[in-house]
Amino acid sequence: LARHERWAQEGLTRRSVHNQRDSRVSTLDWWRTGTIYQVYIRSFADSNGDGTGDINGLRSKLPYLADLGIDGIWINPWYPSPLLDGGYDVADYRDIHPSYGTLEDADAMIEEAHELGIRILVDLVPNHCSWDHVWFKAALQAAPGSPERARFHFTEGSVADDGTVGPPNNWKSVFGGSAWTQVDDGQWYLHLFDPSQPDLDWTHPEVREEFRSILRFWLDRGADGFRVDVAHGLAKDMDFPDLSDHVQILSSAKQPNHAHWDRDELHEIVREWRAVLDEYDDRMMVAEAWVSEESLPKYLRPDEYHQSFSFDLLMAAWDADAYRSTIASVYEPAKALGAASTWVLSNHDVMRHTTRFGLPADESWRTWPVTGPADALDTELGERRARVAALITLGLPGASYLYQGEELGLPEVWELPWDVLDDPVARRSEGTQKGRDGCRVPIPWTADGESFGFGGPAWMPQPDRFAAYAADQQIGVDGSFHSLYKDALRIRREHFVDDAELTWIDAGDGVLAYSRASGVRCVANMGAESVPMPAGEILLTSIPGLTDELPSDTAVWLRPT
Ligand code: NOJ
Repeated sequence: LARHERWAQEGLTRRSVHNQRDSRVSTLDWWRTGTIYQVYIRSFADSNGDGTGDINGLRSKLPYLADLGIDGIWINPWYPSPLLDGGYDVADYRDIHPSYGTLEDADAMIEEAHELGIRILVDLVPNHCSWDHVWFKAALQAAPGSPERARFHFTEGSVADDGTVGPPNNWKSVFGGSAWTQVDDGQWYLHLFDPSQPDLDWTHPEVREEFRSILRFWLDRGADGFRVDVAHGLAKDMDFPDLSDHVQILSSAKQPNHAHWDRDELHEIVREWRAVLDEYDDRMMVAEAWVSEESLPKYLRPDEYHQSFSFDLLMAAWDADAYRSTIASVYEPAKALGAASTWVLSNHDVMRHTTRFGLPADESWRTWPVTGPADALDTELGERRARVAALITLGLPGASYLYQGEELGLPEVWELPWDVLDDPVARRSEGTQKGRDGCRVPIPWTADGESFGFGGPAWMPQPDRFAAYAADQQIGVDGSFHSLYKDALRIRREHFVDDAELTWIDAGDGVLAYSRASGVRCVANMGAESVPMPAGEILLTSIPGLTDELPSDTAVWLRPT
């Protein structure tokens, strides 16, 4: 059978007709209410047995994703790269890393995803490139003051009173250490991340033109849009003043007029990109912008981003009031702007939330894998809460971003030994943080077989406990994480898609409750005591078998009777 006939027989293309570009049933833009599944390509599925995920592996799993019920896929950087920051060090923005496949594979993947009604978002990394990029290699060959160096931030060092030369200023790399590295002729270049990721100078017209052309390159190949890396970066105070304070990644930069985050000049660049996207039909871009609530609306102006990640819920304490106020702080401004909210519980930069939710409230998930104690982790509690969080977020208006493996309840591999760690965060943290590899371990597809069905010997080791989370142990199994997500996404499409309204319900201490325009309610008991099951027809519960009571850390979706 031809591919599309087989898929049609399996019912995979039927639902997705709703999502096809030309025949959408919904009048809303897909990204306003869509579920976007993040694929960390290196760790998703390996088709050729080399132990690294690849595009053909992703192609083989598209039916799985269509069946799960997602609307779009965001693929982490897949470009040629020395992979010194998992591919966020891009050597060539117009090609595919040989380990991941070829441009032809990417074209085929985009086409097949579209047949299944799935949109594809490409990761755009504009703040910096790789030191293997031709521009940076040329800059190193060229002399100080040359046009080749002008595309980056090359400058002289500072000279102390005693004559010693040091970095031009006190800016720090997000990954630790100075943000400046000195080259052989004495000049220094700026890298807000790893030294292998030189920052581009966005005041340079060639940089601006190059990225407009890169956008067109992927849009012409059928990409539906972009996730934009470090969207709050790009513009720098060109006087390079010392900073009085150092802002950590994954914390909103709340200082006004910061020398390198969230500067007003960057919005002009965003408008240029938006104009390119608007030359095409129906494309979108989502910003990874770690900015304060006051700043965020600027990124969502009608001629800028379509949406921006909100990481606030990911940071919120497990508490009904904290969740309510956090959700409101995301939802209200987005609504006022006519933008869509976004909900994120996990991604490739943070500890997987099943594990995060299992740690004591006063424990830092960034350092706990190093400091322990290991028995502080309550795995069962974490998984129970992750199920609640899924119902809370998937019932909310806006777009939901899921991270691969989240639908399997996959835990963080916090016990990875230091000698296998690959993340620059681990390398540069001087033993204080293990970094982000624990959430990037290859996906277990089957309980048996090499690398749990991922492919060849996994590039990052998988723990034995992954067998229990394998997709083949969960698909079609009542009460599994996978079934919860699949049911939730189906109900979401039926009841939550065309209504943006969110109404809070006061349901007592420790209980978070809201209803949507369809009348469907989400009630989540985040408190310690059981509460009676609210009235209504039960559509879905976070754990099976709930009828009369909603025990601590459970949730329900109900329809009025
Ligand atoms: C944010 C990405 O999500 C992260 O993985 C990366 O290390 C930095 N940006 C630098 O590109």
